[in-house]
Amino acid sequence: MKVRYLGHACFEFVAEKRILIDPFISQNPLCPIKLEELAEPDIILVTHGHADHLGDAIEISKKTGATIVAIHEVAIHAQLKGAVAEGMNIGGSISLEGVNIYMTEAKHSSAIDMNISGGHATGFVFGLEGKHIYHAGDTGIFRDMKLIGKLFDIYLALLPIGDRYTMGVKHAAVATKMLKPKYVIPMHYNTFPVIQQNPEEFRKLAEEESKAKVLILKPGEEIEL
Ligand code: NI
Ligand code: MN
Repeated sequence: MKVRYLGHACFEFVAEKRILIDPFISQNPLCPIKLEELAEPDIILVTHGHADHLGDAIEISKKTGATIVAIHEVAIHAQLKGAVAEGMNIGGSISLEGVNIYMTEAKHSSAIDMNISGGHATGFVFGLEGKHIYHAGDTGIFRDMKLIGKLFDIYLALLPIGDRYTMGVKHAAVATKMLKPKYVIPMHYNTFPVIQQNPEEFRKLAEEESKAKVLILKPGEEIEL
C-alpha cells in the first residue's frame, strides 16, 4: 500500500481502494498540494467535527461522489450539506466497497461549530491488503488502546503527538506500547506554533518503549508499506 502524509492528521492511502482521512487541505498550512491536485478518493474517513479534520471533506464528496464515513452526527451534517455520507458509531463496524471500517473512541471533543454538536470524537481501524491500520484521530491517551491492540493486529498506527489538544510525545510513546503496531507514524504536530513538537523525540521514546518502527513523514511525502 502507498501511504501519503498531507500534514496535520491528513493521510491518503492507495491500495485496493483510495482512502483519504481527515482531509484538511485548503486551510492546512503544511499541506503541499492544492485541493484540485487530489486524486478522487473512494472513501473519506472523518474522525470528528473540528475544522482541522472535517476540513474539505464535504466539498470533495460533493465534487467526486466519494462517501464520507463519520460518527452519526457528523454524517448527518455532511448529508444536510449535500455530501454522500455513512454514519456509524463507536464500537461498530461497517464494510464499504469491500473495506472493513471499525470506529474507536477518542478522548476529545467534536463540535462542528458553536451550534452543532458533532457527537463524540473518534478514531478508525480499517483494513487494506489484509492489514489493519489505526488512525487515532485527536485523542488523549486512554487505557482501551490496549484493547484495540488486542482486538486488531495493528500493522500501522497513526498517532497524534502535538500535545495541548491531544497526546504529546511521551504519552504517544506509551500508547505505541499498548497498541503494539509494526509501524507508527506521528501526526498532528507543527501545523501551528501551539503544537510544535520534535518527532525525533517521539521516535526515541516509542522505539525504547515498544518494538514498533517509527516512520517520520514530511508533509507531501509518500511511502510504500
Ligand atoms: Ni480536534
Ligand atoms: Mn485537531
